[in-house]
Amino acid sequence: MDLILLVMDLVFPAVILVVLLVILAPYFIYKFVNKILRMFTMEVLLGKVVLITGASSGIGEKLAYEYAQKGARLALVARREKKLQEVADKARELGSLDVITVCADVSKSNDCKRFVEETVNHFGRLDHLVNNAGIVSAFYFEEYTDIANTLPVMDVNFWGSVYTTQFALPHLKKSKGKIVAIASPSGWLYGPGMSIYAASKAALVNFYDTLRVELGSSVKITIASPGFTESEMSQGKHLTTEGVVEVDREKLDALIGNFPVKSAKGCAKNIVKAVCRGDRNITDPSFFRIVYVCKVFIPEVLEWFFHVNFVPSTTMKNATSINVSDNNNNKKSI
Ligand SMILES: NC(=O)c1ccc[n+]([C@@H]2O[C@H](COP(=O)([O-])OP(=O)(O)OC[C@H]3O[C@@H](n4cnc5c(N)ncnc54)[C@H](OP(=O)(O)O)[C@@H]3O)[C@@H](O)[C@H]2O)c1
Repeated sequence: MDLILLVMDLVFPAVILVVLLVILAPYFIYKFVNKILRMFTMEVLLGKVVLITGASSGIGEKLAYEYAQKGARLALVARREKKLQEVADKARELGSLDVITVCADVSKSNDCKRFVEETVNHFGRLDHLVNNAGIVSAFYFEEYTDIANTLPVMDVNFWGSVYTTQFALPHLKKSKGKIVAIASPSGWLYGPGMSIYAASKAALVNFYDTLRVELGSSVKITIASPGFTESEMSQGKHLTTEGVVEVDREKLDALIGNFPVKSAKGCAKNIVKAVCRGDRNITDPSFFRIVYVCKVFIPEVLEWFFHVNFVPSTTMKNATSINVSDNNNNKKSI
């Protein structure tokens, strides 16, 4: 057996390299032409039923407006009822034909079952599932004292999407519908200062990549990776090392620095366009993709770059934490 594997170690890469050299050029031409053609056969959303989790703020809220403007019927899910109602009212004004809101916590499997059932009972079908609800924990790994306090990150970002997908899948198969997963470049690049969040998004990306293989063309999947985008999250809403959700402007300022932040509206517009075109992935802004190419070809250089630019020296790190915890004016527990 070992001998067979040794031969495969030698032969397999060589064969694949030759095949790649032959097919790469025609493959890229095919992809380019295919993308152009898909622009002319964009899905029409009028009357389609779209379920969006985490629709009470940020990207989810703007996705609701984007779908509403195209005449989709909406099921909006989050925990804050009042905020959801406000989003629902605006979505109706913008052109949505019918909107329901469901208060639910995506980290609870029963809640996910309930809001999928309520959606299908009300509309009779489901066309798009947008798994957007998410939270962030933005600390360097060594800052955590009890790592178990970060469990909600995985529960919401990963399991929240997985539960919902499982309950929605039979309905999406019936309608030949679509799944949209809101991931993050930190899921396939690096996420210094938010390793647990990055891991939750990496799990999400791998889950949907695998599901896409299992489902074939019966349900299309678009994985969206927005860069820094205007939202409550980018305004400092995060899970603290104590496991409490808190808003602390300075905390996220320390992480994002002067990095340009995209408008949630622009981000939502690009995501919905990509979904209607049937894209497998969308990265917005798209320049993150070239950084990924660097990760593949020159990983050591990129690791060094990220370390130097996104990891403060020990002294700076301590200074940042002291600064943040001292400034109570900028902190609000939720
Ligand atoms: N903003 C960025 O820079 C950025 C970058 C990359 C990826 N993302 C991803 O984009 C998605 C949306 O985040 P955002 O930036 O728009 O942040 P946001 O404004 O904080 O929105 C998060 C949404 O998720 C909902 N949510 C959180 N926990 C929930 C739970 N347990 N059950 C149900 N809903 C829950 C929140 O509603 P309630 O609190 O009312 O429940 C809210 O509607 C997230 O998956 C995030 O990871 C954001």
